[in-house]
Amino acid sequence: MTYFNIAIDGPAGAGKSTIAKKIAKQLGFIYVDTGAMYRAMGLYFLRNQIAANDKASIEKSCQEVNVTIEYKNGEQNVLLNGENVNGLIRTEEVGNMASASSVYKVVRLKLVELQQNLAKRENVVMDGRDIGTYVLPEAQLKIYLTASSKERARRRWSELKEKGITSDMNEIEKDIIERDHRDMTRDFAPLKQAEDAIYLDSSEMTIDEVVHKILELYKIQKEKDV
Ligand code: DC
Repeated sequence: MTYFNIAIDGPAGAGKSTIAKKIAKQLGFIYVDTGAMYRAMGLYFLRNQIAANDKASIEKSCQEVNVTIEYKNGEQNVLLNGENVNGLIRTEEVGNMASASSVYKVVRLKLVELQQNLAKRENVVMDGRDIGTYVLPEAQLKIYLTASSKERARRRWSELKEKGITSDMNEIEKDIIERDHRDMTRDFAPLKQAEDAIYLDSSEMTIDEVVHKILELYKIQKEKDV
């Protein structure tokens, strides 16, 4: 049996995870958040004081560290050497470390295998940076979801504000631009739009509009597929 795979790629803060989660729920698919896996690796490097430019230590720890995922009540839990680290990986520090350490091929290959195995066993909505181009090149529906860096910074700023955290929107935008640059220019499996991906700019769209659009595209693709 072939499973239906939806790949959603795009830069940080484009709304991928919120949207992918909603789509997965509506379709009864499994949502796979690949960024969380890179974040778990990033957390491991931070905890062990391994610098992002220390390639030898990063390569060595890839042999020691074990990242797995489990699903409980429809939620993805990321386990780092058996410990559920979901509550620890959403900080800017971990996100930046994930971006910096994900440039290494050893880090990527370790996680790509896990991602590909999941997609072989289930209908998935998988989001990340290289899903349509590298992880699931045969995905039946590929979306490249983006938004302007200003809008992405504004969204992040209001998310933080809701949590009672004051922040500087310009600083956030600077950080986003830097992260985009690193994710798009790394040698191995960089972030780019797959040739057969559909480009969606969410700057002027609500979450529900984007979800609706992707579900429409899914229906069209599904009809072609049977
Ligand atoms: O989507 P996110 O912000 O949780 O991802 C954190 C970092 O992980 C991102 O800046 C780059 C890296 N990443 C990646 O290289 N490939 C993926 N498929 C997902 C994330």
